Amino acid sequence: MDDRIKKIISEIDGFNAVTKEQVEIFRMKFLGKKSALADLFAEMKNIQPELRKDFGRMVNELKIKAEEKLNSFAGILEAGSDSGESETTDLSLPAEPHEPGARHPISIVRRRIIEIFSQVGFTVADGPEIEDDWHNFSALNFPENHPARDMQDTFFVGGKGGGISPASNSQDMALRTHTSSVQVRIMETSKPPIRILAPGRVYRNEAISARAHCFFHQVEGLYIDEGVSFADLKQTLLYFAKEMFSADTKIRLRPSYFPFTEPSAEMDISCNICRGKGCNVCKYTGWVEILGCGMVDPNVLENCKIDSKKYSGYAFGMGIERITMLKYQVKDLRLFSENDIRFLKQFVSS
Ligand code: PHE
Repeated sequence: MDDRIKKIISEIDGFNAVTKEQVEIFRMKFLGKKSALADLFAEMKNIQPELRKDFGRMVNELKIKAEEKLNSFAGILEAGSDSGESETTDLSLPAEPHEPGARHPISIVRRRIIEIFSQVGFTVADGPEIEDDWHNFSALNFPENHPARDMQDTFFVGGKGGGISPASNSQDMALRTHTSSVQVRIMETSKPPIRILAPGRVYRNEAISARAHCFFHQVEGLYIDEGVSFADLKQTLLYFAKEMFSADTKIRLRPSYFPFTEPSAEMDISCNICRGKGCNVCKYTGWVEILGCGMVDPNVLENCKIDSKKYSGYAFGMGIERITMLKYQVKDLRLFSENDIRFLKQFVSS
């Protein structure tokens, strides 16, 4: 037995490696799974108990020796050369293809919306995604029993079981259902003139389909000053529609209802796909709805300690997904959150 170990030791001592392959041969021969060393370890259980300790010590020493020798070859591996000679870089080789990343289409459109409105004096404001009832609903003039507060639409946070639950008992905190909550926060803390945009993620308890999701993105706008009128709102939105879609885009406002604006309207743009001729995107009407808007209800101003006799304002809110779908003719809302690289790759330009 001793002889076998001695023989291996002399083999280790005599081994000389200059290439990576030789180092690998050494590693396999002396330390690999099928090496002489592995055989010796496997034999351990057959050795008589009184000899086993000595045998074990010798085999261990052998292993350490092999490892030390392997470590001494480290320089060869680091040199990075198969032949042992130093490598030169071949500058004539074609460069490795480098695929530039792409911005997410929602980010592209959000940036564009912000850019358009910042040209007419709007700045960006931010607020929390988990909101209290006051900022998401009460301050915005939602009546106590308004359907939007109910479990159909809102994810409430907390309550008995904890966590996020549409059926929670504690209805104080919720995932914001719109970024109008940010407008309330700004109105509470600043003095007019106020001209802000509130972009952000919002949540609604809806079944996921090609046209609806339980979370999406909005940009809402708010302008409060002395003498702000509906005409200002309309002109600003017309400017936006032309910048966002095309210079020949037309808008129309239809009367609508929101608790926080009076009067309220929904805005359609002339269908940018069929140019008014009729297609399945505009359902053959020539018009597609893109946002809600209106004059801020005096109750909301008063709730936020702004003098509604002195000041008036307008507000509007749009879904970024909706604008993106129209702009890029995306037919399924789910594509925005699936991270399918084949979809995302198509938006490399901006
Ligand atoms: N907050 C509304 C929504 O989420 C949009 C809106 C904002 C409507 C401002 C009017 C004025 O649907």
